[in-house]
Amino acid sequence: LRVYVPYETTALSLGADEVATLIRREAERRGMDIELIRNGSRGLFWLEPLVEIATDEGRYAFGPVELDDVASLFDAGFERGAVKHPLALGLTDQIPYLKNQQRVTFSRIGITDPVSLDDYRELDGFKGLEKAVTLSPQELVDYVKESGLRGRGGAAFPTGIKWQTVLDAPGEQKYIVCNADEGDSGSFADRMVMESDPYMLIEGMSISGLAVGATQGYIYLREEYPLAHELLNVAIERAYVAGMLGDNVAGSGRRFDLEVRLGAGAYICGEETSLLESLEGKRGVVRAKPPLPAIVGLFGQPTVVNNVLSLAAIPAILSEGADHYASYGYERSKGTLPFQLAGNLERGGLVELAFGQRLHDLIYEFGGGTRSGRPVRAVQVGGPLGAYLSPEQFDVLLDYESFTKIGAVLGHGGVVVFDDTVNMAEQARFSMEFCVAESCGKCTPCRIGSVRGVEVIDKIIANDNRAANIELLEDLCETMIQGSLCAMGGMTPFPVQSALQYFPEDFNDSKGA
Ligand code: NAI
Ligand code: SF4
Repeated sequence: LRVYVPYETTALSLGADEVATLIRREAERRGMDIELIRNGSRGLFWLEPLVEIATDEGRYAFGPVELDDVASLFDAGFERGAVKHPLALGLTDQIPYLKNQQRVTFSRIGITDPVSLDDYRELDGFKGLEKAVTLSPQELVDYVKESGLRGRGGAAFPTGIKWQTVLDAPGEQKYIVCNADEGDSGSFADRMVMESDPYMLIEGMSISGLAVGATQGYIYLREEYPLAHELLNVAIERAYVAGMLGDNVAGSGRRFDLEVRLGAGAYICGEETSLLESLEGKRGVVRAKPPLPAIVGLFGQPTVVNNVLSLAAIPAILSEGADHYASYGYERSKGTLPFQLAGNLERGGLVELAFGQRLHDLIYEFGGGTRSGRPVRAVQVGGPLGAYLSPEQFDVLLDYESFTKIGAVLGHGGVVVFDDTVNMAEQARFSMEFCVAESCGKCTPCRIGSVRGVEVIDKIIANDNRAANIELLEDLCETMIQGSLCAMGGMTPFPVQSALQYFPEDFNDSKGA
């Protein structure tokens, strides 16, 4: 009997380890022979710990399993899969939340033991790399261009063009840097990739190295992800042993080395140039662009800086074909985006969808509306620098251009939902406060503007000369957008402006005081 219990941060925080131990003990007590597998998480977080049983018909799911449920699962004969039990969810693949997704990047996630090379190979792992070693660097870059993949960190710059720039740039030593400093509120897709399918990221980085002629890669990982750190290191070690990293990548005779480096907890180190500073051992301060990192990057050398999700999309693009990847999506937003549902939602979790579906469906059909049962009032998409959307905008399509048209960003795909108890003046204040805390301090509109922003919002909330202060706040936002060196100061006004525009009533003292 094969029993699966996730080994992933969310599931562990909900007691997965304790449940696994108890299942083992209970099986022993009953003289049952079980093979307990620690898989990744399927991303159905409201059902974690999600226990699965392998049967001839497929895997059956039970969840959320608490310690008190374990004995009753055995009593019900859960090893048969299709049994009556309050936690029985049927075949895992048929759970609508999973069945209605288009999982491309996340196709293996939650199914396999994250660090098992056999599991990875069994589900098409390393096929992309094996194909890559038969192609020239230019052919590889062309593949990525044809797929239409755009940077999944949030800026949506075409990945193939970035790679072309690095391939064409002269340089003694080129680098691949994976931005794994996932700092956006409500986002966890990078973490899930690293914890639940680390070989996919390793494979994507090796392919990227072959494409641009880089022999060294670094994963810049936020230190708040200790489990990802542990699993990545195990996976990297095994990938070396398997010949997928090192001096003869997949038998190509070409070299690619990979290491993980830990950040120290600064949001701004997710910005690519301060990330590079930090990786060089310096304080994480933003560098002016140009020069672009693609030309003058890590240690002054041409460097690909890509988000985890961009690099993780590469193996499938190679193994399934660029056309296949591009067949998903909508207009100029090709492929899929793993959305992360968080905040006040009935069903939080990971939902990978082809671009072009409606925000409304993500919130209600997948998310199930608010957990509090109250009406949804606001949604922030794209992290703390993303605009707040009001319910009248929920018909917007989930693609980069449709979001730009309404003054919002899809960003890294984090979706945070608020019910009608939220005070949007406080949320606007929080945006400015966040910028005060996280600004690198290099430029004035961001460093000082954010401090003044908090003060002005406080005055508005206190009904102190409201009209003049609202005008001042609007002016300050414009100055920050136009005058900041990077997206931190340049985008902080987005949530503030949208709160003012769509929820003006909250800036009245009757609600805001
Ligand atoms: P950007 O638009 O300046 O650059 C995007 C990428 O394209 C960069 O890597 C840049 O070096 C590259 N690039 C631009 N022109 C190029 C060219 N001609 N050739 C080659 N490469 C070129 O945006 P930036 O400042 O890197 O990122 C801002 C975005 O980051 C925002 O849109 C926001 O959504 C997102 N963000 C994501 C966070 C996360 O946790 N994932 C956190 C905060 C912001
Ligand atoms: Fe630093 Fe803010 Fe200027 Fe960005 S906008 S460079 S975070 S001070």
